[in-house]
Amino acid sequence: MQWSSVLEREFGAVFHRNEELGAYTTWKVGGAAEFFCCPKEEKLLASILKVRSKQEFPLWIFGGGSNVLIPDEGLEGLVLCTRGLDSVLFEEKGNGYVECVLGAGVSLSHWLGESCRKELSGSEFLTGIPGTIGGALMGNAGSRERYIGELVQWVETVEPDGERVRHEGKEIVWAYRFCGLSDSLRVISRCGMLLRKSDRETIRRNFLHYANLRRGQPHNVRTAGCVFKNPPGEFAGKLLDRAGCKGMRCGDAVVSVRHANFIENRGNARAADIVTLVEECRRRVYRACGILLEPEVRFLGDEWGFLEKD
Ligand code: EPU
Repeated sequence: MQWSSVLEREFGAVFHRNEELGAYTTWKVGGAAEFFCCPKEEKLLASILKVRSKQEFPLWIFGGGSNVLIPDEGLEGLVLCTRGLDSVLFEEKGNGYVECVLGAGVSLSHWLGESCRKELSGSEFLTGIPGTIGGALMGNAGSRERYIGELVQWVETVEPDGERVRHEGKEIVWAYRFCGLSDSLRVISRCGMLLRKSDRETIRRNFLHYANLRRGQPHNVRTAGCVFKNPPGEFAGKLLDRAGCKGMRCGDAVVSVRHANFIENRGNARAADIVTLVEECRRRVYRACGILLEPEVRFLGDEWGFLEKD
């Protein structure tokens, strides 16, 4: 039986067809998902992956949509959105520590707001970062020096065979914009983060400090954060700026004049426009200094061959 018929038969009632994905992304770009599902329970997530382990079909995991580019043609197969896993619990751990037990779909801003209200400190460096916990963990999001993996006590995942596994934070490999869990098509479902009790004034000062680091970034425009990772010992933004990329335009996609590592959607940019800019930016930096920038944004779909060919 064809995989699409299997999906219809097994999960027809909970799947949407042709869901427009652009609306789910911060770039507001991209086509529709053939099948789309936003499970509210880990059980459903696990049974979908179990079915897939017997009958393979294209699967895309989607969190806050703040670090992805969806092709204009959309995505064949199933897009699994984790935003329905949105529970937030706080558990006292003694000695002034509190564990936040967070569903993968909780937005970072919601978690930060709740923690601040409870006068918990430790996560302020994540201020201003869009997206959900699951995506932030998979990309080990953070500021320049600090990253979310530092706070992780444990992560629960649904593995590609549908099994639920708990990974201890210390056993996971964390590096700059890298998480060891991203090596296979597993889905993060929940995690535990450790924060400590503090006071409003200290937390406010921390927020201001980290907000200040982001002052030079574009605000209130549709972007996907930094497009490229910083190469070792260098800053992608600086290299792109020096290579003359600021202000480059393709359709409604523009390399930010405020910070060269951001691409803005100034209207109705298409994914193809953004990719044209990404390619040209890489080319220019490579020509200028011999460094091939590695994207931080994830390009979903199969047609972005340029990344492998280089
Ligand atoms: N710079 C330029 N021209 C530009 C942009 C930057 O010369 O157009 C120079 C700056 O003057 C500075 C250096 O490049 O000397 C670094 O720039 P910035 O301070 O803006 O930091 P960044 O390395 O570009 C990193 C993270 C951001 C994070 C900020 C603040 C990466 C790729 N970016 O930016 O994370 O918000 O530090 O902590 O690691 C993201 O990952 O999506 C992201 C936005």
